[in-house]
Amino acid sequence: MKKRQLPYQTVILVCGGDKCSDRKSKKLFNRLEDELDKRRLGDSINVVRTECMGKCDDGPNVVISPGATWVCGAKPKDAKKILDELLDSGVASDPSEI
Ligand code: FES
Repeated sequence: MKKRQLPYQTVILVCGGDKCSDRKSKKLFNRLEDELDKRRLGDSINVVRTECMGKCDDGPNVVISPGATWVCGAKPKDAKKILDELLDSGVASDPSEI
């Protein structure tokens, strides 16, 4: 076993399980990726689709790490807001402001 530092400052997990997918989690995932590209944040924030997170009734579910913050019932239109709040919280930084 080998421990390594994460290559990303922040990881956004988007549930890709059946129930969350039925509620447009794939579109949310795509919008998050588009928004990261637009903001040139792809080197510090990684967005990943997962299997079912086990909280289907609350979905679509998003978990932000570090901090393990759950965002439940997220819609594709929430992608910008999720990233805005992430940047405001200081968990991730906007490279254009460095
Ligand atoms: S399908 Fe997303 S939590 Fe189960």
